[in-house]
Amino acid sequence: MKAADFRLFGILGFPLSHTLSPVMQEAALQSLGIKGFYLVLEQSEKNVKHLLKNLKQSSVEGFNVTVPYKEVVCKGLKNLTPEAKAIGAVNTIFQKRGKWVGGNTDAYGFLYSLKSEGKFLPRGKRALILGSGGSSKAVIYALARSGVKSITIANRTQSKVQALIRRFKKLFPKVVWGQIGLDKEDLKTAVRDADLVVNTTSVGLKPKDKALLSVTLIPKAGPRKKLFYDLIYNPAETKFLKTAKLRGHQTLNGAGMLAAQGAKSLECWTGKKAPLKLMYQTLLKALKTKG
Ligand code: ATR
Repeated sequence: MKAADFRLFGILGFPLSHTLSPVMQEAALQSLGIKGFYLVLEQSEKNVKHLLKNLKQSSVEGFNVTVPYKEVVCKGLKNLTPEAKAIGAVNTIFQKRGKWVGGNTDAYGFLYSLKSEGKFLPRGKRALILGSGGSSKAVIYALARSGVKSITIANRTQSKVQALIRRFKKLFPKVVWGQIGLDKEDLKTAVRDADLVVNTTSVGLKPKDKALLSVTLIPKAGPRKKLFYDLIYNPAETKFLKTAKLRGHQTLNGAGMLAAQGAKSLECWTGKKAPLKLMYQTLLKALKTKG
């Protein structure tokens, strides 16, 4: 086999011991008849910056980027897609007409999952976002772009919310923006008024984590159920989702978003339609094996 027949893709991040992207992407490559590997590139920030300056010499033809480098890569690339520019984070690096481009498929992945699995159409709806870290930006962008009526952001650190709102208000002046802390009464009102509640915080990743929303903060579901979406997919059902379900609401975890953002990345690299269903099934199987 010629070297050129063997294609390389990979993921940049640190740490990467738990990443499920390789198993999902390699299943997709195989199904598309592409001979290649998806490499785990657990690298230091210094190495990532060095790579960005020397992409021309890279034998890896497409990258995913994950925590904590999404912002660093965004700042380090000259060419960005409109999504990556607006979000301020890159999760996919690909080549287009001989140029290396930074893109963001997280927003697409979230929206795809929300619409296809959640049957939730954001236009005119009211959203409450818990958290204002890196991953909240793609969610906020996706919702604002899709015409939500209002977005309230709840976060422990208020200065981060202010910065986020300042940034997105300029891009989406028609959206009604709101900001709260984690005060119980404020949360209760915000949950009551929302059609969609998204957890973008890391609370729920560890078994001992307390739910950010206790049962008393979530009203019982009426005829119009709310959708509670957790970006966390392992565990498959966080306390946040369990509590919402207990109150009769619809719930969804972030596995669908992970699969859809990965599929879109693969399409950026290969120009071929990605086998999303297969990628999702492979991911769910891998998650089950991991327990
Ligand atoms: P990511 O890139 O996954 O979004 P991040 O940028 O570190 O990760 O953001 C994590 C989010 O979880 C933040 O909104 C953080 O709140 P702060 O901005 O106040 O730090 C939130 N978070 C993490 N641990 C939390 C906790 N114990 N209680 C409340 N919020 C928490």
